[in-house]
Amino acid sequence: VNFHTIEWKNDSVVMIDQRKLPDQEIYNEYKDYAGVATAIKDMVIRGAPAIGVAAAMGIALGVRQIQNREEFKDQLECICKTIKSTRPTAVNLFWAVDRMKHVYQQHKKSTLEELKELFKEEALKIWQEDIDTNQKIGSFGQDLIGDNATLMTHCNAGALATAGHGTALGVIYSGVQSGKKLKVFVCETRPFLQGARLTAWELTKNNIPVTLITDNMAGYFMRYGAIEAVIVGADRIAANGDVANKIGTYGVAVLANRHKIPFYVAAPTSTIDLQTATGDDIPIEERDVNEVTMIGEKRIAPYGIEVRNPAFDITPAELVTAIITEKGIVKKPFKKNLKQLFSK
Ligand code: MRU
Repeated sequence: VNFHTIEWKNDSVVMIDQRKLPDQEIYNEYKDYAGVATAIKDMVIRGAPAIGVAAAMGIALGVRQIQNREEFKDQLECICKTIKSTRPTAVNLFWAVDRMKHVYQQHKKSTLEELKELFKEEALKIWQEDIDTNQKIGSFGQDLIGDNATLMTHCNAGALATAGHGTALGVIYSGVQSGKKLKVFVCETRPFLQGARLTAWELTKNNIPVTLITDNMAGYFMRYGAIEAVIVGADRIAANGDVANKIGTYGVAVLANRHKIPFYVAAPTSTIDLQTATGDDIPIEERDVNEVTMIGEKRIAPYGIEVRNPAFDITPAELVTAIITEKGIVKKPFKKNLKQLFSK
């Protein structure tokens, strides 16, 4: 893909500001961890794997701000707490924080300067692994996607949601790269419009044919046989295979099931949370009501109206045809097969 979502540059973190897309391609530079935490919270950067990479780089920046070796442990704890409080659903955030904390556990005797370097190295490793992981997901996914297919996706599980070329969209990019002709229908993804603003932008920028529809048009196009498969990303996959992803995913999965269309979830193993038994145990973020009462700057609802804004929903495992990971394609029974993935 022809842009960078997140990079480490001269001891700062550079991110494309996703709130400004598709109108402006602006890159923000962050020099401290508090700035990175705010960027995650405000969705300058979003998408589970990208949030994980940002968390790791944010902690690496935070560690660079520590001046006194004696205070390292407490300050690291405080940095991690701030990063962890940004968004609750995508487990990649907590996974990345744990990995960074592990660096300290492994190097308790190191000097302050050594620790700063080790934390930076681990963050860069997480970034590079995400790029490689995307490639593997992309190539495993090819077994499931035919030539000349029209696929439906929801939200943005592309390059903008990762450090590489994406998970769900990664499968599409890899397919096109290997010579397949693929088309994509993308649901706009109310309320925050990741489909309309981000997926439509990045696929167009990379010359993949994309058709934008509103969320309530998904059933219409499935009924007329326009869609061969649905492919989405995930924010957290529970041990039983239940999938938390952007609000509206559940509805698309139900429709796909009704029309006998395969429903695929593409996600790295860092999105799989074996500690969480089922989808009911996954914390669902509720975001600001303004995302619902407004579209961009424009108000569309009466003042004072009661509003709910869950940012994610749970697609029960039974509606998921297969989960595409960097370690291979996982099929039912998910509980057994997901567990097995980690013993490989
Ligand atoms: O609220 P967001 O934009 O962070 O939600 C993103 C999604 O739901 C994505 O589908 C998910 O994180 C997978 S991204 C590869």
